[in-house]
Amino acid sequence: MKLLIATRNKHKLEELRQLFDFPGLALLAADEVPGLPEDVVEDADTFEGNALKKARELCHASGLWTMADDSGLEVIALGGAPGVFSARYAGEPCSYADNNAKLLRELEGASDRRARFRCAIALCAPEGREWTVAGECPGMILERSRGMAGFGYDPLFVPEGFDRTFAELDAAAKNSVSHRGEAMRRAAAAWGGMLAAEALMQA
Ligand code: IMP
Repeated sequence: MKLLIATRNKHKLEELRQLFDFPGLALLAADEVPGLPEDVVEDADTFEGNALKKARELCHASGLWTMADDSGLEVIALGGAPGVFSARYAGEPCSYADNNAKLLRELEGASDRRARFRCAIALCAPEGREWTVAGECPGMILERSRGMAGFGYDPLFVPEGFDRTFAELDAAAKNSVSHRGEAMRRAAAAWGGMLAAEALMQA
């Protein structure tokens, strides 16, 4: 059985392949399936809504079981911003550096620097059933960037219980506490058995 992963990010795909390693189940990236829409417009107002929208549209287009994720940063003093606008916080087009600079400007002088990363993962079956899981990682926004690893807001974010930013942690350490790591582990716990059984039935 084929499971389409609605991502072009090889790193996310590799992590999911390790979690969903069942006989007869092949995980495919979006660029391995011809005829899919280039982009799904992420215009829902929640991470769950965007993940479901992506999974649903690519499931319909491909006829395959499909998994999609959406994630971002919520800052408490900013009322949850940038939230679902995390990728384009500084406007479109913008770089990670532009987004980080805007975040620092918005938080200038703020004493409450609490934030959390959130990630939702959705799964859609071709006959219409849908599920979601979520993960989150609380932490703090620094006053200046630290570290070179990772991407996005990583150099500004220190996860709770750590004194290093996500950009100062290696991938395994980040994954053990990150919103995406938690959501992926929850997805494997909630859906692994069902997908393994489905793959056996289709074999
Ligand atoms: P996506 O859902 O992976 O496309 O992420 C949307 C945006 O949220 C990214 O462009 C980043 O700005 C931000 N983001 C999501 N996850 C992370 C993370 O683990 N570290 C840093 N930024 C992240």
